[in-house]
Amino acid sequence: MHALVVNSSGRTDLSVSRKLVVELVDELKAKHPGLTFCYRDAAAGLPFVNELMISGFYLPAELRTPEQTQSLAFSDQLVQELQAADVLIIGAPIYNFSIPASLKAWVDLIARAGLTFSFSEMGFQGLLHNKKAYLVVTSGGVEVGSPADMATPYLRLVLGFVGITDVEVISADQLNLLGEQPIGAARDAIQHIHAVA
Ligand SMILES: Cc1cc2nc3c(=O)[nH]c(=O)nc-3n(C[C@H](O)[C@H](O)[C@H](O)COP(=O)(O)O)c2cc1C
Repeated sequence: MHALVVNSSGRTDLSVSRKLVVELVDELKAKHPGLTFCYRDAAAGLPFVNELMISGFYLPAELRTPEQTQSLAFSDQLVQELQAADVLIIGAPIYNFSIPASLKAWVDLIARAGLTFSFSEMGFQGLLHNKKAYLVVTSGGVEVGSPADMATPYLRLVLGFVGITDVEVISADQLNLLGEQPIGAARDAIQHIHAVA
């Protein structure tokens, strides 16, 4: 089994989501000794979709110009990382009520017609199957699951859109209000995660 870990906090050493992601990875390793990991740090900088990429997005690969093909190479790589993963772990701090822009850039690069979703007169269909996702969500004041939390429902929606519906949320929220308590609760949740089937 293989896992993809996507971090998106703009912080490194001080990041709570990154710390909890490490602890979750350790727990998964203990539960699944053969599990291998691939890491993608969205905060290190991902391109935003641009005109050339969009012009190639909806064309079959064989009809793309060399420039369009080249412009989509990195997006293709991110899609391959996701396709190869049985387990997806996303570290997502809440920034301004939603996910960090860096993580949105990742979403825009992995949501690919014909690769991760399809559409027809029957509607949209996710093309990724049998994957388990863990979301590690941190916040300063917003309660995860409250109406002000646009991050968790958004991530659930977009993962469902590409076919990933088995999503477990581990939150350390309201850190500015509640101090260490939410981190303890998140650590407890990590100890009790459901093993990947
Ligand atoms: C740019 C920025 C915007 C933020 N916006 C929110 C917000 O809208 N709501 C909230 O509850 N916390 C907000 N926070 C606080 C972070 O969610 C909180 O510090 C969290 O721990 C960050 O994750 P990290 O520890 O992994 O860096 C914001 C933090 C930053 C840096």
